[in-house]
Order: sequence, then structure tokens, then C-alpha cells
Amino acid sequence: MSKVLLVTGAAGFIGANFVHYWMEKYPEDRVVGLDALTYAGNIANLDSVKNKSNFLFVHANILDQDTIESLLRSEKVDTLVHFAAESHVDRSISGPDAFLETNIMGTHSLLKAAKKVWLDEALNPLNHRFHHVSTDEVYGTLKPNDPPFSETTPYAPNSPYSASKAASDHLVRSYHHTYGLQVTTSNCSNNYGPFHFPEKLIPLVITNILFDKALPIYGDGQQIRDWLYVSDHAYGIDLILGKGEVGETYNIGGINEWANIDIVKLICKLMDESFKQNSELKDRFPSAIAAMNGNSESLITFVKDRPGHDRRYAIDPKKANEVLGYVPKDSFETGIKKTLDWYLSNESWWKSVMDGSYQEWVSKQYGE
Ligand code: NAD
Ligand code: DAU
Repeated sequence: MSKVLLVTGAAGFIGANFVHYWMEKYPEDRVVGLDALTYAGNIANLDSVKNKSNFLFVHANILDQDTIESLLRSEKVDTLVHFAAESHVDRSISGPDAFLETNIMGTHSLLKAAKKVWLDEALNPLNHRFHHVSTDEVYGTLKPNDPPFSETTPYAPNSPYSASKAASDHLVRSYHHTYGLQVTTSNCSNNYGPFHFPEKLIPLVITNILFDKALPIYGDGQQIRDWLYVSDHAYGIDLILGKGEVGETYNIGGINEWANIDIVKLICKLMDESFKQNSELKDRFPSAIAAMNGNSESLITFVKDRPGHDRRYAIDPKKANEVLGYVPKDSFETGIKKTLDWYLSNESWWKSVMDGSYQEWVSKQYGE
């Protein structure tokens, strides 16, 4: 049976990739993409679907409960996939309020709307789903030999960002337990891929190499993250919507732990190789050190550590594997290659998102 999805945060990094994934795989479904278009949201991320008859973009804030209720009714939405969030840890340290507003109050506004329309008005009491997209950061930090995070690892969020996500996870859980809302939650590890905003490590390093700018490594660079290609996150959510049990949470990850310094060195090496193989890049990015046959690694600069920086994240995806049959489709080798190629082919996209407000934030951050 075809579905009608409401996707919040549809113009952001993972939300947009999810919309592309879903519309390609399920062309019979209708997708309503909602986004407030904050600095991180970009309508251009939805260019390839915006004119399709089964897609509708709605420019709205998730805090606007009336609009969400109207959409659930008028579009007869049966599946809400909730990505919208303030997502950058560094911004949550310099300005936590927006994180509490969107991630906690915004999620609660969606829960209230879903409960009112699907349950109280009985528009769809039996066949609805509220899927909440969360993060592995809610589990806190791991020591080098700790086992990876499982669904039963106690919550111990360390940043205002992860604390706000943890609060939203608890609210989602409570709306199932108390009111019977049909919810599922996924906690995923670090994503990378197309449309990743260049304030985050991987796209920041790629774009800084092209402009001969320093590659800032926080602290000693030995912090570990567990990287997953973004369409494999969409695939995991797809399996949860299809086979996941209501009220359950699922950890999504690809068993791919990297120290920050190693991933930055790898990107430097791959970028240097791209410049050697493709002479056109030298004309397009003449200031890049790789254009002069130099070594991009020389741009690595150790800077002051992130306050409260979590040392290691790692996901144990056993439950998703055993219950849903989840196995990521992309290896890190194929995923990082696709990502680099996408950034090299989409210069106008990343130049357009690095606008005035982004530059202002970077200047404050690094005093440039
Ligand atoms: P992002 O910052 O790229 O995108 C967030 C989107 O939400 C933007 O389009 C923004 O405009 C929109 N938004 C923000 N506030 C809003 C509001 N009040 N109303 C409506 N829209 C609003 O983030 P992302 O990296 O795509 O992350 C998406 C979700 O996935 C988040 O919930 C995040 O916590 C979670 N997550 C991210 C990662 C990761 O590695 N990026 C990993 C695990 C989980
Ligand atoms: O683990 C999932 C989380 O991954 C998501 O919930 C977040 O929304 C997402 O932003 C991401 O959080 P991180 O803080 O892990 O991602 P970020 O790209 O900001 O940083 C990755 C690592 O690199 C982290 O250890 C900090 C470090 N770093 C980051 C930047 C931007 C640097 O060393 N230098 C940098 O300039």
C-alpha cells in the first residue's frame, strides 16, 4: 500500500538525502518535505524532486503546531519522519537556546500534532508511524576498549546538542508509553556524503583544501567517530519503517571507526591524487596546494579542543542486523570516493551555502 510521508528537515543534509532515496525507491508514495530553511537548510538540495507531482515542499517551522496538524489532515499523512534539528555540536556550545527550542520543544510540537490528529480526532489511530531520527551522541563517550553503544547503553549526553536530542528521545518514548502513539526511534552514528554542510569535519576539510585554508584539528585529533554513508542511514530508516516494531529503538551504523586525524590525512591523500589524475582541477582551484603538486597534509593545524569533546563514538548495529537484516550497502572506500567526487562536481552548491552568515560564524569561531 502506498504511503504519504511528512519529512521534517527535508532541506537539510540527511533529510534531503532521505527524500531522494525514498522518491527513487518508492515512486508511488507521496512525500511532503517540511523545513524552516535555517542556515543549514537549502531548498536547492531538493532541486531534483521539487517539480515532481508526488512531492510538495512546505516552508514552515516544526514549532508551528497548527500548520503541522493541518498538513497531517489535508495530506492524509500516515508516516512522519522527523529529521529537523539544530545539529552542530559547536553551535550548541556557543548558543544552546536554539537547540532546546527546536530539538526539544519542536519535537514536542510534532508529537502533540500527531497525537491530536491521528489519535484524538481518530483520523488514523491504527496505521500511522512517527519515526524519530536521533543520534549516537545521546550515549555519551566511550573509552578505547569499551564495547560500542547498544540500544541498552544508558543515556549520558555531554553537550547541549546531545542533551537536547536525548530529551527529545525521551519525549517520543513517553508519547508511545502514555498515549499509544506508534513511534520508532533510530540512533545513528556520524553520516557523510552529498549536501553535508561545510561546517562539519569532512566537507570542511574538502572545501578548505580547495582554497588552501588551514585544516583545524581539535585537540590531539585522536577522537574517534564511526562514519556511515548517508544513503545507508536512509536505508536503515526504510527498514525500520517497514519491519521495525512500534515502541522500539534501533542503532544504525557501519562498524567504521576512524580517529579524526586519520580521516583528515586520508582525505588529503585522496584529494592530492584527484589533482594528479585530473588536470582540470588545477585550473579550477589554482590556490590549492595540490594544484602546485604540494601535499595537502601540510595544511593540518592543531587548534584548541572543543569543550567537553567526546572522545569516542561507536555503534553496535547487531539489533538492526538481526531483526531488520540491516547491512550497509556502501563501504567506506566507495562512500568517501563518491563524496569527494560530489564536492568536486558541485562547487556552486557549497559556495552558495558558505554565505555571509556562515562566514560570520567561522570568523567568530576561529577569529579569522
Ligand atoms: P542539518 O543541520 O543538515 O539539517 C537540519 C534541517 O532541519 C535543516 O534543513 C534546517 O533548516 C531544518 N530545521 C532546523 N530547525 C528547524 C525547525 N525549527 N523547523 C523546521 N525545520 C528546521 O542536520 P542533519 O545532519 O541533516 O541531521 C538531521 C537529523 O539527523 C538531526 O535530527 C540530527 O540530530 C540527526 N543525526 C545526524 C547525524 C549526522 O551525522 N549529521 C547523525 C545521526 C543523527
Ligand atoms: O555522531 C553523530 C553526530 O555526528 C550527529 O548527531 C551530529 O549532528 C553531527 O554533527 C556529528 O557530530 P560530530 O561533532 O561528531 O561531527 P563534526 O563533523 O562536527 O566533528 C567530527 C569530529 O571532528 C569531532 O570529533 C570534532 C572534530 N572536528 C570537527 C570540526 C568541525 C575537528 O577536529 N575540527 C573541526 O573543524
